[in-house]
Amino acid sequence: MRVNVDGTEIEVPEGTTLLEAARAAGRQIPTLCFDERLKPFGSCRVCLVGVEGRERPVASCTTHCADGMRIDTQDATARRVAGAIVELLLSELPDPPEPGTELAEVAAGLGVTTTRFDGERHARDHDTRHPYLAFRHELCISCGRCVRACDEIQGAFALTATGRGFEANVTAGLDSGFLQSDCVSCGACADTCPTGAIIETSLLPAASPAEDRA
Ligand code: FES
Repeated sequence: MRVNVDGTEIEVPEGTTLLEAARAAGRQIPTLCFDERLKPFGSCRVCLVGVEGRERPVASCTTHCADGMRIDTQDATARRVAGAIVELLLSELPDPPEPGTELAEVAAGLGVTTTRFDGERHARDHDTRHPYLAFRHELCISCGRCVRACDEIQGAFALTATGRGFEANVTAGLDSGFLQSDCVSCGACADTCPTGAIIETSLLPAASPAEDRA
């Protein structure tokens, strides 16, 4: 089938998502819950794009192309909503996203340098009991990538999404930490985490012991 991405006509096979079509056309769309190694999840809505004839922007990572579709990756409403979503995420973090993380890159790409939302921020809560993997819970944006990586890449099922809204987070095992869970130390969770919430212990900046779980 043929689709048009920002004025460029391309041929894509059946089942292609709008995100895949945009990338095939050389266009960049910000993503947060998407990892091409994992099944699309469609939770963050940062990958919104405009589609001719659709009243609202759609999530490009979970929407499939239809023949003749015209996709606008620069749709003003999509960019504005995506920026507001990232601002909301930043408003819950104790600090600006760490340089080099996907969240920092997505924020910069959307022109988000600060947040206009002044809400409750997560307190630092570090689980450093595992010898190789640390969990900085306050940096979790509940994108679900670590849980899916653990399930789909490793088949370990060691991580679980917990809570809702501001309380949403991820726990290892029965909240006993990586050490007591079924974690096999493969590092897939840390590799996919877009914020550095799960990180190899060797990469962890020096922390105050008061921030760490006993
Ligand atoms: Fe598409 Fe998150 S990247 S909804």
